[in-house]
Amino acid sequence: MEQPTPEQLRFVLESAILAPSADNHHRVRFTVSGDSIGVRLVDRRLPLEGGYKRVLLLLSLGALVENLTIAASRFAIATEALLLPDPAHPDVVLKIRLRPQAAEVDPLWSMIPLRHTNRALIFRGPAMSNEQRAELAVAVGTRPGNELIWLDETESRRQVLRLMRCAETERFRNPLLHEELFSAIRFDVGWQKSCTEGLPPGSLGVEAALRIFFAALRHWSLARLANIFGAHHLLGVRSCFLPCRLAPHLGLLATRRTDDQSVINAGRSFQRLWLVVTAHGRVLQPMPASALYAFPAASEEGIPAALQRHLVEGWKKVLGDSFPLMLFRLGSATQSPVVSGRRPLTDYLEGAWGV
Ligand SMILES: Cc1cc2nc3c(=O)[nH]c(=O)nc-3n(C[C@H](O)[C@H](O)[C@H](O)COP(=O)(O)O)c2cc1C
Repeated sequence: MEQPTPEQLRFVLESAILAPSADNHHRVRFTVSGDSIGVRLVDRRLPLEGGYKRVLLLLSLGALVENLTIAASRFAIATEALLLPDPAHPDVVLKIRLRPQAAEVDPLWSMIPLRHTNRALIFRGPAMSNEQRAELAVAVGTRPGNELIWLDETESRRQVLRLMRCAETERFRNPLLHEELFSAIRFDVGWQKSCTEGLPPGSLGVEAALRIFFAALRHWSLARLANIFGAHHLLGVRSCFLPCRLAPHLGLLATRRTDDQSVINAGRSFQRLWLVVTAHGRVLQPMPASALYAFPAASEEGIPAALQRHLVEGWKKVLGDSFPLMLFRLGSATQSPVVSGRRPLTDYLEGAWGV
């Protein structure tokens, strides 16, 4: 059987790293040997079981695998992704086998470089047609165990927005979450330029008049002072409540199981949905904090126990026995001139191989 050429492998892996990750930081390395690609974690092992950091990483890995699979289909190559870890090599989390001449071309491959996170304050209509909603349901349904829920009725949106606002406000109030959020923002590149890792400030949708204030808040001492006057509430309203309240659609990806494989599957479904949204000419912004801070071990990672319990109870009322994994607002908006970049593929490769 014909092996993929080095050019095909390069295209496939470059498409893989174009996948979204929580803070635009793919902490992985690829090793190719024969017909298989190993994915190794730079941090050596998965974060705490049951914690939100593990879920963020697995969702990003799922998106990466989905991009890789869709890109490989361009050359009729099928993939089989196996979630490890192998006890002998706990840092190798995934093995992806490539099977040439076994896949149909998936036209979504051409959407991979066009997809970006959009953080414009206002997403406009028109609302999706029934046909477009059905296409998104099919995209999510390609992996088992996932559910796509639209929160477009006044009452359901109000109920979920309360939970989202609580969690997003906490990101500005809690010193650990504040550090996590602001350390990912690359203030060193300025507001006009992109960067190959981390979040360029120009991609955040912050209004010109508010930029100095926002940048100053990266210093915890200032943020703490501003919070005495309620800055965290204002930021929760501006960064989450308003944009979600005004968006034509608010979506939720839920799952019936939260084991590692199910979360990877959800990451794959979400990425597929995002590429179909891109093909429809629409944009989205992921906002999963309220879902992830409800995970059982989140309080061991710095989420206040009372907030974690509040979120668990709130989600139970909305979803019953299912678990929320990803929330996103969706609509139409012009793309910001500044979007996140990626490091060159060679930075992600290790071992001797021919791409
Ligand atoms: C699991 C996950 C969580 C994310 N959470 C957020 C978020 O809370 N807020 C946000 O604005 N973007 C979020 N994003 C989007 C990433 O910041 C974005 O994908 C990354 O910076 C790369 O930019 P790009 O999507 O334009 O390629 C998330 C993405 C993923 C995959």
